[in-house]
Amino acid sequence: MTKNTSRVQPANALVQNARRRRFRVATLAALFSVSALYVAWHEAHGPATQRNDELPITQAHADDASQPAAAATSTSAGSDLVKRGEYLARAGDCVACHTANKARPFAGGLPINTPFGTIVTPNITPDPDTGIGQWTDADFLRAMHEGIGKSGERLYPAFPYAEYTKVTDQDVLAIRAYLKTLTPIHYAPPRSDLKFPFNQRWLMVFWNMFNFTEGRFVPDPKQSAEWNRGAYLVGGLAHCEECHTPRNFTQGLKTSSRFSGAVQAGWHAYNITPDKNSGVGNWSDDQLVSYLSTGAVPGRANAAGPMADVITDSTQYLTREDVGSIAIYLHSVPPISGGESRPRDQWGNPAADDVTALRGTTINAVNGAQLFIANCATCHSWTGQGVGASAPGAYPSLIHNSAVGASDANNLAMVILHGVSRTTKQTDVLMPAFGTHLTDDQVAAITNYVTKQFGNPQSTVTVDQVAKLRTQQ
Ligand code: HEC
Ligand code: HEC
Ligand code: HEC
Repeated sequence: MTKNTSRVQPANALVQNARRRRFRVATLAALFSVSALYVAWHEAHGPATQRNDELPITQAHADDASQPAAAATSTSAGSDLVKRGEYLARAGDCVACHTANKARPFAGGLPINTPFGTIVTPNITPDPDTGIGQWTDADFLRAMHEGIGKSGERLYPAFPYAEYTKVTDQDVLAIRAYLKTLTPIHYAPPRSDLKFPFNQRWLMVFWNMFNFTEGRFVPDPKQSAEWNRGAYLVGGLAHCEECHTPRNFTQGLKTSSRFSGAVQAGWHAYNITPDKNSGVGNWSDDQLVSYLSTGAVPGRANAAGPMADVITDSTQYLTREDVGSIAIYLHSVPPISGGESRPRDQWGNPAADDVTALRGTTINAVNGAQLFIANCATCHSWTGQGVGASAPGAYPSLIHNSAVGASDANNLAMVILHGVSRTTKQTDVLMPAFGTHLTDDQVAAITNYVTKQFGNPQSTVTVDQVAKLRTQQ
């Protein structure tokens, strides 16, 4: 679905790709067969070995867990802890995944689609029957740090424990203290629906072998305090990599390509390495801070889709210092080029006078320019330059906009189909969704007109791609 114009694939490359894919499927099947044999043997011969490995860790957590929990009585130290926990829960964006219905925050039920099936998030309110009311602090630490549930079952990595493992015991327990203060909601989410063999939780032992390193963040004494804070947040609670780092065939993160961008559920979470052309190397620290706090940097980017949610639920609540640290850290990671010849936000010119050109002509075929003027120009102006310049809540210019200048038109088509919705302290931002009014060929025509006129003319979509994107959310 991603059209990458810098890497045109000849037919034999496509055949090779198909072969490689078949090879990967074969490898995956072989891997699971070997895994199944290994675990069957392990279960039969030495179940005690595994438990022995796990016990001391759990025990250690239980020990240091007892102090902060004891402090969390109704004293002011307790309420400080709860406030800190609320802040950290926001940094970790727990609410985003654990809320399906806004009236039932943290009660779970959100289906997460993965290539292996659908995983439904659990209820993490303190309800004793359907939530985590009966969990001990040690259970909670083990889930966050090791991806293991209350009964010792392996949790799926759709829960970002691969990142949360880096979070200090103290911070995890502050989150725990905050979650304990939530209203218990009695609600049992539907069961996850994964295909065999992925419905076998023990297989995550092997996923972990390839993709997971248990352990807390280790500060780098050669770096500044801000850098270390940024690295701690980005790699831990804020789990930016879950969307911005590409995945390997087991759906683990490709650590050699950290932050170089990935497509998930139709949205391209762009390359955010400091590469000048492919990433955000030309953004200032202040611009990154504004983006994460408000979702809009005029002349560069506006946040839509999953990133709008991240800003709405999480990063806008972070202090200036914390977001500043994130920016400092992000600007220090190794730049990775995707082959782009200029930055996403450096494309486009105002439209020539399409309005006059179209006046009085009868157009029968689906026409991008005409559809743009009919549907988009009231807000973005027919020149594409927007209305309201850089005021908060302005209708942004489509020229020098990262979604319009990207090397694929995914996000632009997604924005047209699904709209933009973002709530921040400054303003509520809303662009209507056009998915219900416009057909796939109309959306494709507007998309291709907008990239040609205001953005990267090499980025196009087909009607089939739009049909696929329409089903993603
Ligand atoms: C990206 C989505 C996502 C985010 C963000 C997320 N979770 Fe989860 N969480 C999940 C999923 C999915 C599961 C269920 C995994 C499974 O079924 O194996 C889960 C499971 C859990 C569990 C285990 C509950 C149980 O009943 O087994 C706990 C505890 C938990 N999450 C706490 C948190 C906390 C605290 C945060 C924020 C710091 C958080 N989660 C953020 C997706 C998420
Ligand atoms: C749930 C997935 C998700 C998570 C988590 C996430 N992002 Fe994003 N991010 C996206 C998507 C999708 C876009 C593209 C949004 C658009 O086109 O409007 C994006 C865009 C961005 C951009 C703008 C790039 C550009 O050129 O427009 C920056 C900067 C960014 N993210 C930084 C971060 C940081 C820092 C974090 C962690 C604090 C993070 N993101 C976490 C999905 C995510
Ligand atoms: C009612 C006003 C309105 C209409 C009509 C409208 N938009 Fe928007 N558009 C907005 C607002 C508001 C935003 C978000 C501004 C922000 O992020 O601060 C936006 C954002 C965008 C973005 C930036 C998204 C990103 O991720 O960077 C693009 C591209 C866009 N619109 C294209 C279109 C196209 C194409 C049409 C016609 C199909 C259209 N808009 C119609 C108001 C509108």
